[in-house]
Amino acid sequence: MAKLPGSCGYPFVSDTSIEFYRNPEEYISKRLQESSSNIFQSRLLNYKTVFVCSYDATREILEEKGRDFKHGYRSFLFNSYGDNILFEDGESASHLRGCMLPIFNDFARYESTMEKLCKQFFSSMTPGDGDNVVISNVYETFKTLMTKLCLQLFLGFDDDNSTESTESISELATLHWHGIISVPVSLKVPFAGESGWSKAVAAKDKLLDIIRDKIIIGKTKSTEACNKSVFSSLLNLPFKNDRKDIEQHVLLFISALIPKAFSSIITSFIIEMSGEEREDMREKARTDDSFLERVLLEVQRLRPPFFGGRRIAIRDTNIGGYHVPKGHAVVYVSHFAHRDEKVFKNPEKFDPDRWLNWDGPLLAADKTFTFGRGERRCIGHKLIHDILWYITKELLKNYDWSSVSTRSETPYKLLPVSRPVEVVSMTFERHGA
Ligand code: HEM
Repeated sequence: MAKLPGSCGYPFVSDTSIEFYRNPEEYISKRLQESSSNIFQSRLLNYKTVFVCSYDATREILEEKGRDFKHGYRSFLFNSYGDNILFEDGESASHLRGCMLPIFNDFARYESTMEKLCKQFFSSMTPGDGDNVVISNVYETFKTLMTKLCLQLFLGFDDDNSTESTESISELATLHWHGIISVPVSLKVPFAGESGWSKAVAAKDKLLDIIRDKIIIGKTKSTEACNKSVFSSLLNLPFKNDRKDIEQHVLLFISALIPKAFSSIITSFIIEMSGEEREDMREKARTDDSFLERVLLEVQRLRPPFFGGRRIAIRDTNIGGYHVPKGHAVVYVSHFAHRDEKVFKNPEKFDPDRWLNWDGPLLAADKTFTFGRGERRCIGHKLIHDILWYITKELLKNYDWSSVSTRSETPYKLLPVSRPVEVVSMTFERHGA
């Protein structure tokens, strides 16, 4: 078996985390070139780390060799979130997945909440006199929409019947988020200072207080309508540590992570489908559902919200023909695997029809790594797909849209969640206006 290209050097002195977080794309491109391989080793967060940028080897990690690894998020996310499925493996992770999946795969539980909120959103987009609508910050607008939806779905939150407002909880979620990206582990990466971290801990405590109150109220209500909602279904799950498991998972689901990831995808969809030169694509997607599926898949290939994922090898194994020793961290890099030229010809091109010849359903979780893959794939994938579907159909049905800046003038930053560097403003023109 071949030896991994690159070097992990020595503890601390050879750590490259700061270089990685400063510009992950440049960091990886440079090493791919130096090693002439799409797998290499280096030292990240002071761990010996194997970076995997090939499509097939990423699939190997997540599927065939999945059991040679444990999840690698505990060392830098546990302090921010506390116990939840992300930090579990084996039997315990399977139990939690088995409990939660039926809720997130059941359209009936979130349909009415999703439709009501989206309808409100679209009616707020309708100008009185038939003029165009300008969304001056596309990413923030859809992040706010998704934050509201997450609070309603996962916390049973209702602005009218609560002492807190959506805005105040969002602010707490943002402060909590700043703690998450400050990475307060053995090696400190400079995203936020000490004060950022202590504010994040205070925000997390306050969020948990709000969650506990909602759980107490939720457990005492048991109307039929209420029992069909996502939140009341979460309250009744057969978790082993009943209340603590519910609290910790609700904290994960209402954190800023999901709104950011969702808005990343919808923003990329709007950018990729904007302007006169994409008029034909918009027209086709309006009438041909399988083309819209391919468009969404292509958006998720080119612009995965999360750069990749992390694992720790629990035994000696091999990936892509290279020996990976027990204890090594492995980072699969979706952003690069989705650009693997062996699999995707002309990978930088936005080409929905590249998916025409792929077998099986056109779900991103089967074809890309945007929602992970295999036994630990995202449990919220169907829910996100349904919301994306609803919003993109509504946008296409009612609007054409364009921006003053072109796609090539829209550089992206890739961490912590992929999104355009600059604010993107878009003009939406109602059909027939
Ligand atoms: C656009 C939105 C989302 C994206 C891009 C996304 C992406 C991902 C990815 C890539 C993974 C796999 C991580 C890995 O294996 O290393 C994952 C796992 C997970 N996701 Fe999502 N996710 C999204 C939305 C959601 C939603 C809405 C929920 C639930 C409400 C959710 C809950 C989870 C959970 C619990 C896991 C861990 C599953 C396990 O470890 O077995 N995600 N997600």
